[in-house]
Amino acid sequence: MSETIKALHKEAAKCADEIKKYRSIHVVSHIDADGLTSAGIICTALQRGGFEYTTRFVKQLDEKALDAIADENHSIVIFTDLGSGMCEQIKSRGIHAVISDHHQPQGSHQFHLNPHLFGANGSYELSGSGTTYLLASALGKNQDLSSLAIVGAVGDMQHLKMGQLVGVNREILEDGVRGNILQFKKDLTLFGKQTRPIYKLMQYSSDPYLPGLTGSEEACIEFLHSLNISLSQDEHWRRWIDLEISEKQKIVSGLIQYCLKSGMPSYKIERLIGEVYILLGEKEGTEMRDASEFSTLLNATARYDHAEIGLAVCMGNREEAYEGARKLLAEHRQNLVNGLIYVKEKGVIQLENIQYFDAGSEIKETIVGIIAGMSSTLVENRNLPIIAFAKAEGGTKVSARGTQDLIRRGVNLSEAMSIVSAEVGGVGGGHDIAAGATIPDGKKEEFARKLDLFIGEQLRRKTHSKQRDQPSEVCSEKLN
Ligand code: C5P
Ligand code: C5P
Ligand code: ZN
Repeated sequence: MSETIKALHKEAAKCADEIKKYRSIHVVSHIDADGLTSAGIICTALQRGGFEYTTRFVKQLDEKALDAIADENHSIVIFTDLGSGMCEQIKSRGIHAVISDHHQPQGSHQFHLNPHLFGANGSYELSGSGTTYLLASALGKNQDLSSLAIVGAVGDMQHLKMGQLVGVNREILEDGVRGNILQFKKDLTLFGKQTRPIYKLMQYSSDPYLPGLTGSEEACIEFLHSLNISLSQDEHWRRWIDLEISEKQKIVSGLIQYCLKSGMPSYKIERLIGEVYILLGEKEGTEMRDASEFSTLLNATARYDHAEIGLAVCMGNREEAYEGARKLLAEHRQNLVNGLIYVKEKGVIQLENIQYFDAGSEIKETIVGIIAGMSSTLVENRNLPIIAFAKAEGGTKVSARGTQDLIRRGVNLSEAMSIVSAEVGGVGGGHDIAAGATIPDGKKEEFARKLDLFIGEQLRRKTHSKQRDQPSEVCSEKLN
């Protein structure tokens, strides 16, 4: 066991001991897949432990949300998938709290389970649901909840950096494999393998964008016909899971050939294959069987003010809550398609170091970040972070998405959003690769200009520090 995970387990045990002093607990979590799975994990663990609990889901933990929580005088509050950015504000309001989160910490807290504090990176080595799984493990026997921890990590796209889950996430995955809860394998990464007709996997593929196939039902059907794959059986569309291994292999090679012919760079083609995560306890052909489909199902609930439905699904409801979630999923999909069409038609404004679009009220602020991330395949210049603005209650929501390459070159969107939003009277934070903020109305252009300069500075800082490092590298080379 690594030093990091040992230290995390120790902190989890300390937090669990604090929780055990109380019978009634308030859980506050975030309205996305990672937040819902975090809440699902902790609420199940509390229920099993005989605790009473209440829940609250917030878009972000701002001063207003904290005031409302403080007003309720809870004896103890567990913050999951949020809280780390608001340590001081939590303390100053006298809220007695345990924080289980993976966002970059600002300030400090006595009961604070966060990978960044123990030598792990919270943007790809451990998610909010992962920290909360460690907390649940310290509260009791909860190995089965490893499946939700993996769904949360995949929902936050933590598997993308290395093409597989790594770090503490991997240890949790292995826990799940040992318990026969989870399975991982190399497979096609396209979305919808459990539930959708095969041609739709290509039609809706945005990462990688398949030129000539993405967006065209007809071309996708034709492509599969050209490979002699039958699309339906007994009047039902065949899904990826219905195919024989040989058919799957034929499609994968066909797709690779197709992408090579269209001149796609190999690093993009490689993204067609990756590690995928299966929840063995779930029925085949349902969203919950596949970590990625499960996380999208959850996003479709909480991001539309229906966190209670997503939480119920996380806690095992496969009847009315699941049916409700599927209805919301159909609407969510349509909203994503419409959002992408909007960005494509409207285009992005390019500054020196960033590019941005303003969705106004056309895209809901709770999904504008997802669309910003997906729209990276539509823009000409993938080397600039994408910033999206959307109208929110009492201000403007900003979402920022970067790439691994930008991070290597010195960009840290969390730092940039936090500092620049404060300069215009807003608040922000998040991760190096994906961050967000809320800023006052009427500040968009000023914010974009300032952010552009700030990110330019981050890039220069890195270039300079590299140059400074160079002489010593040369020196040490000579010495050796
Ligand atoms: O609040 P939270 O940490 O859960 O959200 C992280 C966000 O970052 C998610 O919306 C996730 O989709 C996004 N992300 C991304 N690209 C990555 C990693 C995360 O867009 N490579
Ligand atoms: O909302 P969005 O998906 O763009 O958020 C990206 C990341 O930034 C998430 O991890 C979210 O928790 C974080 N964020 C934040 N403060 C905000 C808005 C978003 O820390 N005001
Ligand atoms: Zn998260």
